[in-house]
Amino acid sequence: MDKKTYYITTPIYYPSGNPHIGHCYTTVACDTIARFKRLEGFDVMFLTGTDEHGMKIEQKAKETGVTPKEYVDPIVANFKRLWETVDISYDRYIRTTDDYHVKSVQNIFKKLYDKGHIYKGEYTGKYCTPCESFWTESQLDENGCCPDCHRPVTDAHEEAYFLKVSAYADKIEKFLTETDYLTPKSRVNEMVNNFIKPGLEDLCVSRTSFTWGIPVDFDPKHVVYVWVDALSNYISALGYENDAFDDFDKYWPADMHMTAKEIVRFHSIVWIIMLMMLDIPLPKRLYGHGWINFNGQKMAKSVGNVIDPFVLVERYGSDAVRYQILRDMPYGSDSNFSNEIMINRINSDLANDLGNLVSRTVAMADKYFGATLPTEREAEPIDEELISMARALRDTVAPLIDEAQLSKALEEIFKVVTRANKYIDETAPWILGKDEAKKARLASVLYNLLETIRICSGLLAPFMPKTMPKIWEQIGSTESLAAFDTLGEFGKLPADVTVHKGEVLFPRIDVDKEIDELNALLTPAKTIREDEDLDKANIITIDKFAEVKLRSGEITACEKVAKSKKLLKLTVDDGRNGRQIVSGIASWYKPEDLVGKKIVFVANLQPAKLCGEISEGMILACDAGEDDVRVLFLDADVPNGSTIR
Ligand code: ME8
Ligand code: MG
Repeated sequence: MDKKTYYITTPIYYPSGNPHIGHCYTTVACDTIARFKRLEGFDVMFLTGTDEHGMKIEQKAKETGVTPKEYVDPIVANFKRLWETVDISYDRYIRTTDDYHVKSVQNIFKKLYDKGHIYKGEYTGKYCTPCESFWTESQLDENGCCPDCHRPVTDAHEEAYFLKVSAYADKIEKFLTETDYLTPKSRVNEMVNNFIKPGLEDLCVSRTSFTWGIPVDFDPKHVVYVWVDALSNYISALGYENDAFDDFDKYWPADMHMTAKEIVRFHSIVWIIMLMMLDIPLPKRLYGHGWINFNGQKMAKSVGNVIDPFVLVERYGSDAVRYQILRDMPYGSDSNFSNEIMINRINSDLANDLGNLVSRTVAMADKYFGATLPTEREAEPIDEELISMARALRDTVAPLIDEAQLSKALEEIFKVVTRANKYIDETAPWILGKDEAKKARLASVLYNLLETIRICSGLLAPFMPKTMPKIWEQIGSTESLAAFDTLGEFGKLPADVTVHKGEVLFPRIDVDKEIDELNALLTPAKTIREDEDLDKANIITIDKFAEVKLRSGEITACEKVAKSKKLLKLTVDDGRNGRQIVSGIASWYKPEDLVGKKIVFVANLQPAKLCGEISEGMILACDAGEDDVRVLFLDADVPNGSTIR
């Protein structure tokens, strides 16, 4: 029988700057899943690539004084170099400038036109160049800017082709609400309420105002809209409508598309409608993950707060970097990156928990038995819990991988690592080692530890592919004993296994020293405005400051102010009788994000009426960058009504 197939994709990235840790998240996550599915015996196709057309690239190239292709080539080379550096095992790399892809997109466009899904019309509207997105007037934010990135948009009027997505509103809503395609589930409501319910408008799918794109072959003054071009990569890479590959029947439909949340809209609405129009089977899963933030903002080139993954890998190794970004991204929400978070994670989980478990176990086998365990055994009831946890681990982890719950999967594996370390304390092998009569018992303890390490390291290999073979070498195991079948069984190492003391797997990092060095290397360009001099010109006395009464409070209820796009009405427990505060943060926070949060508010501000609602005070928030605002939250255990000074 043919092997079952598994097709997984990352987004294809814009080569408009160098890759950063944010791009690494999706690619490393997909790589881990791809490796795990190969371990499970699937015939895997793992696709990544670059999205090289569009006005944005054309502009960047012009600024640099080169052709678009000359502009993207070295950046694409750098992406590929990064993927090699972090051990990405992609099976295929697509560039949208590849001839076969161009051919496919032209054929797809023609097919859609011939079937009547594309028609010619007049485009008048707004265009956001950084996002390569068209918007209608009604979709713009309250400042008339792009509703996604809040940057200014430009006017666009031109003859254009349109894709009749409006005809698919019911079908797409049904698909999103009735299948498991879009995860996490919370994103389904977001798509339905924000994009489908307000009315799907036909999508403009060609442009005539620039040339860096795929020409519509039957009307070559038009180039195909970059998102139609880009999304098609998932099928052109398999050979759909081209002769370069013949893998479409084998791998399609995709088992997993992964993207971050800002492009879920394209992957859950536009892409699915395109496939429906083409009568192509629909992909099975889209996982829209959160962002890696840095200093409280999305890490992004345009913000200038990117972390260079090459530097991190050079210092800690690719496995440690892979581990940290996967472990610290909670399912479906954002994670925060900082040098401290990364180093602490490496020290606590990899150096202390896993590294120590391996080195202690191997060292004891070496010391008490000259590296080779004797075959006599003496089991005790205390062994059972560890053994049953280790035996069950594979079947706990595998379904989590299918759901892209990678942080949770690591958490489950490390529960067993922690249990094994506790088992060492409970069984005290160093005491057993002093007693000749306890040799069989000691051999059992060490064997149980080695087996637990074998299972954990086998399941960790897709996450940390460089280090796990080193562990197998140290514990006297082999790659074949890390096969998927053997990971579900306890007792696969030979009874007289021989260990090999080896190098320290994850050296402990001196946090303070390292942070200083790293900050010097990595601290990104200041994104905060240089207000220092202005501040010095406006000095106030401490007495003046003390006139402002700041207190802690808890938001117990929150809703939008009906008459305003910007205002939220907060009910705040101020440790006294409670109060209502109206705050202009509706563009950045949803009511449900705020309920239960502790905030700082000005308690003695003159009350005011805003859009008909009384506001008794003001909550503190920070200008976190161009068009971004972050509320100051307090720790959950701060009592309500506390003085802040
Ligand atoms: O959107 N945290 O390309 P892009 C987590 N070409 N993930 C991040 C991230 C961060 N801070 N920054 C980037 C495009 N990413 C289109 C896609 S697909 C048919 C076309 C990752 O270069 C994440 O996967 O802007 C996000 O969706 C993607 O990079 C955006 O990459
Ligand atoms: Mg398949």
